[in-house]
Amino acid sequence: MDRHDATPDNSNGGITPFTFSGPALAECRELMTHYPGEFSKSALIPILHIAQADNDGWLSVPAMDAVANLLGIQYIEVYEVATFYSMFHLEPVGKHVLDVCETAPCMLRGSDDLIEHIEKRLGIKAGQTTPDGMFTLRAVQCLGSCGGAPMLQCGAKYHEHLTIEKVDQLIEQLRGKETRTNYTDHIDTPAENGTTASA
Ligand code: FES
Repeated sequence: MDRHDATPDNSNGGITPFTFSGPALAECRELMTHYPGEFSKSALIPILHIAQADNDGWLSVPAMDAVANLLGIQYIEVYEVATFYSMFHLEPVGKHVLDVCETAPCMLRGSDDLIEHIEKRLGIKAGQTTPDGMFTLRAVQCLGSCGGAPMLQCGAKYHEHLTIEKVDQLIEQLRGKETRTNYTDHIDTPAENGTTASA
């Protein structure tokens, strides 16, 4: 067995096959030129990011299968990477995913209070998505920006040295944003309290 069955839980209702949009496929093909022939698997992570952004922010089984077919690799090779990294979502998520680091350095600088505040403000618990589909809140492990503690990641951007006020500002900014926040976003101008994620 090397392929998951598509079910309603993992594949946009279980009936919708995933196909890359034209621009996403062009971006994938350009990326693959950097990893020719037997090295195609090295493009897996960036192509998973593109597929995720192209599938409303999450990786369904058909989306992962399409990545495997595109790269000419085994389905299991895609599943094992997609299930390892927290930046890949295996179920639908909100338009903006707030990943708040809760590891010791951030915890000592108040991440627990931030998580509690966001939970109250959004009316959800960590791990949940708001009913309007705008926000998913997650408590995650160290994101490698301990010097900016406490911090959270939203898409490609790190928001560091957070306070309750900064978190409130960020939530309001995101509420007014029409497009989904993706890990593939290109950030030309860092926000006042944000830096580009290295992951
Ligand atoms: S402990 Fe939070 S980024 Fe490292």
